[in-house]
Amino acid sequence: MSGGDLSLVYDIGELVVGPGEDDSDDGPLEIREDAAFAAVDGAVVAVGSSEAITREYPPENAATAVDADGRAVVPGFVDPHTHAVFAGDRSDEFEAKLRGTEYREILEAGGGILRTVRAVREASDDQLVANLTGHLETMLEHGTTTAEVKSGYGLDTETELRLLAAIDRADAVQPVDLVPTFMGAHAVPEGRDAEAYVDKVIGEQLPAVAEQGIAAFCDVFCEEGVFDVDQSRRVLEAGRERGLAPKIHAEEFTRLGGAALAAELGAVSADHLLCATDEDVDALVESEVVPVLLPGTAFGLGEGYADARAFLEAGAPVALATDFNPNCHSRSVEFVQTLGAVEMGLTPAEALLAATRNAALSLGLEDGTGTLREGAPADAVVLEAPSYVHVAYRLDTSAVEAVLKSGEVVYE
Ligand code: NIG
Ligand code: FE
Repeated sequence: MSGGDLSLVYDIGELVVGPGEDDSDDGPLEIREDAAFAAVDGAVVAVGSSEAITREYPPENAATAVDADGRAVVPGFVDPHTHAVFAGDRSDEFEAKLRGTEYREILEAGGGILRTVRAVREASDDQLVANLTGHLETMLEHGTTTAEVKSGYGLDTETELRLLAAIDRADAVQPVDLVPTFMGAHAVPEGRDAEAYVDKVIGEQLPAVAEQGIAAFCDVFCEEGVFDVDQSRRVLEAGRERGLAPKIHAEEFTRLGGAALAAELGAVSADHLLCATDEDVDALVESEVVPVLLPGTAFGLGEGYADARAFLEAGAPVALATDFNPNCHSRSVEFVQTLGAVEMGLTPAEALLAATRNAALSLGLEDGTGTLREGAPADAVVLEAPSYVHVAYRLDTSAVEAVLKSGEVVYE
């Protein structure tokens, strides 16, 4: 067959297609051996044995034909929580934290997020786009093909819009698909009162963001000393009225009630959850809020990890993300899967599912993203290894050999 733009990946030793059937004993992944898949115009059209697929779709007819030579292939990774558009450097804060200074002490003293805000306000639009595309290149090298990116280092209408515009521009010039989130309620600007600032977020920032149609989600940092539960509710409800689905930074340093709020509002996801209780787990599962866990943040701060096993036992589709930001300098969803396995007790298969299909669910992507099933975008990672286990297993270099986005090789 020809026609359309045919892509083919064949002679795959181990193909992770997506989540397994619920009633199967094979674990959480559907895996095929000696497999291949074909894609037309960027979407998967057939998955099967390498022999059958190459018979139906001969490699010589394909615009892109990748011989995996017995290696493993997995769906492209989805990183559903990043703050990847920023400027400035906070490596000295890393040293201060290692000496025992608390994250929130730094923020209260005008550092942390507030320091990045000052650097962003001084940066040009081109600089913001260049910074973001540089980070996305590294993310792609680690297998990420879709990433959420939050604003939140502007804290005024003009700069929040500039950040969202930078995300939009970066989306257009490189292969990683971006999902933009408005997070004007990321911190209270210096010298301002939280309540009055929330009025600004709702009355000025949100209408401007909604009018430009440049964000899919609205997020808020619900935390002691930042935004309380009532303020967070006001922001997220106002966002929803403007067509932005709610997400929330919940129970990161203290248990304030953000998880219960996420359940009450039917948020798409609740993220961090280091301090979530069993009650929070049940409430989130009941309301089908996807828990997005960010082990890199806990690792970098030397904090305890979120209880991934409690969420899995309660039946939640646990997602993993990098949280990439100046406080958590990791752009690798591979490293996050390693932490998920070693520090949170996930199996490598659970970690992979958390970084693919479940991560896509936490972004409301229901087009098959995070799987290689028929109809899904042909976003795939060819590993330089015989098994998907190498993603979590490798402690040194990346296991990624090549990346396909919409059926095209975009990194090798
Ligand atoms: O998710 N917790 C709030 N926001 C980020 C940190 C942002 C920063 O410190 O710059 C997070 O960890
Ligand atoms: Fe975050």
